[in-house]
Amino acid sequence: MGRAYKMKGQKRKKKEEKYDKEEEFEQLDEKENPPSPKKVKTEGSESENVEEMEPVIDEMPGIPIVQVDTSSKKPGVIFVLEKASLEIAKVGKTYQLLSSDEHANYLTKNKRNPADYRPDIAFQAIQTILDSRVNKSGRLKALYVRTQQGLLLEIKPHARMPRTYKRFSGLMVQLLQKLHITAAGKGEKLLRVIKNPVTQYLPINSRKIGFSHSSEKLVDMYNYVGTINNDLDLVFVVGAMSHGKIEDEYVEDYISISEYPMSAAYCISIITTAVERKWKIL
Ligand SMILES: C[S@@+](CC[C@H](N)C(=O)[O-])C[C@H]1O[C@@H](n2cnc3c(N)ncnc32)[C@H](O)[C@@H]1O
Repeated sequence: MGRAYKMKGQKRKKKEEKYDKEEEFEQLDEKENPPSPKKVKTEGSESENVEEMEPVIDEMPGIPIVQVDTSSKKPGVIFVLEKASLEIAKVGKTYQLLSSDEHANYLTKNKRNPADYRPDIAFQAIQTILDSRVNKSGRLKALYVRTQQGLLLEIKPHARMPRTYKRFSGLMVQLLQKLHITAAGKGEKLLRVIKNPVTQYLPINSRKIGFSHSSEKLVDMYNYVGTINNDLDLVFVVGAMSHGKIEDEYVEDYISISEYPMSAAYCISIITTAVERKWKIL
């Protein structure tokens, strides 16, 4: 296999998983154990091409929270969005969220396929999950997003995410640099880059269901959720990429919910509607 493409000026460094370590450090003496500088991968394989980040300027004062009833002890839903195209790189003088719409020339020049850069898919999917009645009723327990680079993001269900793509992309740049985004006026971290694997955060008492158009098990989603024990939390794993399929070992059942290939957002909307009907959430 040939050597991965490397951008000019990048140093080869030891692989280190990038996540928000601040909570670990809070328990230690900060002076003796200062957090390590933030790094970001910009190009090439996972094991090389890690670039030192420039100091982050806090352009956004945090994001607001929305009122959701988080006191529910009833079983809930967890979404995992897989293979999300959320990658930042320095384009010109600033770090930007790479997208086929805005960076086709840059991507082509760097021998990348612009068609792979579709952060709008994750943007729409996140919006559909947070807008759902499942979330408003407090039954969305968690939302995780795994990027194509293998970073794991946690989005708190009561985070009010930007509704325009432009502001979303600005927020993602900030998140991938700072590794967390706090609530406006409060210290609570609403978005965080967390440590892999996602399985450590999933409840034991849960059914883990993966979604793929190519699955041979074609089901009616409402009938399908109807057969699942009411005591179980439901973990739904949906792809947030433009092509390819999800293949996660922890998934217990792969299902197709339509004869037709759908967008991740539309697929999520079928899932949440089925769960809302099952749990009589109006
Ligand atoms: C934009 S699609 C990915 C495109 C990919 N070629 C495919 O059809 O799976 C995003 C995600 O939506 C989900 N999805 C799309 N159509 C589906 C279907 N008919 N049944 C189940 N899941 C579906 C899958 O999780 C998929 O990874």
